[in-house]
Amino acid sequence: MRVFTRLKEQEAMISNVTQLPQDLQTNEFQLMGERVIAWITRYLGDVEYPLLPHIQPGELAAMFPNTPPQQGVSAEHLFELFETIAKNCTHWSSGRFMGYFGLGPSAIGVLFQALEACLNQTRMLWATSPAATELEQVTLGWIRDLLGLPPMFGMLHTNSRVDLALVAALESRGDISKNGLTGMPRFCCYASTEAHGANEKAMVSVGLGKKNLRRITVDEDYQMDPSALRRAIEKDIKAGCVPLMVIATIGTTSTTSIDPVPQIADICEHYGLWLHVDAAYAGLFAIDPEMRWILNGCERADSFTTNPHKTLFTRFGHSIFYIKNPELLKSAFRSRQSAYLMHGSTEGAVDLYDYTDKIPHGFPALTLWMTIEYFGVEGIIERLREQRRLAHLFETWIEEDTQFELMAPTPLSVVCFRVRPHGMENGREINALNMRLMKAINDQGRYFISDTVVGGKCLLRVAIGNIKTSEEDVRGLWEQLKSLLDAEMATVLASHRA
Ligand SMILES: Cc1ncc(COP(=O)(O)O)c(C=O)c1O
Repeated sequence: MRVFTRLKEQEAMISNVTQLPQDLQTNEFQLMGERVIAWITRYLGDVEYPLLPHIQPGELAAMFPNTPPQQGVSAEHLFELFETIAKNCTHWSSGRFMGYFGLGPSAIGVLFQALEACLNQTRMLWATSPAATELEQVTLGWIRDLLGLPPMFGMLHTNSRVDLALVAALESRGDISKNGLTGMPRFCCYASTEAHGANEKAMVSVGLGKKNLRRITVDEDYQMDPSALRRAIEKDIKAGCVPLMVIATIGTTSTTSIDPVPQIADICEHYGLWLHVDAAYAGLFAIDPEMRWILNGCERADSFTTNPHKTLFTRFGHSIFYIKNPELLKSAFRSRQSAYLMHGSTEGAVDLYDYTDKIPHGFPALTLWMTIEYFGVEGIIERLREQRRLAHLFETWIEEDTQFELMAPTPLSVVCFRVRPHGMENGREINALNMRLMKAINDQGRYFISDTVVGGKCLLRVAIGNIKTSEEDVRGLWEQLKSLLDAEMATVLASHRA
């Protein structure tokens, strides 16, 4: 009797299981997969939406209900909802997107991202993904050697990690990871006025405080002034502060200027300071032997960051962090407090979680490795040269047109310029005109550019970096820029007459 009841119970459980909501079945997956690939093919071919969506804050949220659906919807319906979402994205993947840093994934990279999603790896311990751990070491070793950097331990993160450099630098000054900063002197760090805001945020994250990041003045080419750096360090020492780290930038975000690393390295050596190089945007240009000079002196850095997602057509979230002495990070972060990690390590293997504060999820090296395999080093060099060629072409047009002026050197693939029509002398009026011009371009939706402010002047930035950006795109942008300027000037003249 008891056996009979149990059988009945088991039967009921089995029928419940078959009524459970199911994931896509193989044939549905195949069909949806074809639709998704068709969508991606069209999108990567040419983005049909305005690059900057015509939408106001809150408008997208209002298209969705306040509560989630109680019953699931079909994959078909989901796909229709996705169209609404996609339409309202900013379309970085278009070759006509030339704002901020132009970046977009390669088509082959998109396919490998699907494979990455399907493998669903995490690099907590070597054993949780031997392939993701080791392919990362192999690929970052290739890149380090291509850049001419000395032996350094590399790891991929989703963002550039100045905070890791700060943790390591602090660890080199004592057992700070164990005891914290209480009782320690006031540490201060140095970066140019043009260095990225991420440096300040990192100061906050590690508890040093943004006030203790000294901003060093730059020369007329926006490069850190080494003598100003030396003066700032001396001043801090006299005031009882302890200089800890200098952050040199290779390729600043506004104008892509290149700090003089050899002189900065001399200063770091003299005062015993940690040298971190932020080459987030520009570093990988040095894969090209012609451009190796941009990393002069970087072999002396204690740590170094560069972002493949800015130059090597991988998706957002690929940042390499190299460090000469990874044991400092290990000493700060290695923890086997969690019982489930107690016996996880494998003799002779690297457990990446030991070198960082968060579990390193994902298999980012897969697309990075694939990019190098697929294009080859020569292919990558050609593509990087093309980015520079297109930027220099645009630069030439600016130089030849007397209504425009270049506002910074163009060492790489970002052109900084502004419109300055004859007879317009008022700085505010010039700034306002440039902002209106940028808005007009972005509102039209065919091209996208961005701006920056340097020395109180509003500049426009055309950033070439997307793998799909062609000469036709750059010419198209230039034509549109000029015709919108004509329209703006007609309005300005009319308002002066009125
Ligand atoms: C020079 C520089 N450093 C750091 C960053 C921040 O990079 P991430 O997005 O990897 O944190 C940027 C971003 O544009 C940058 O240009």
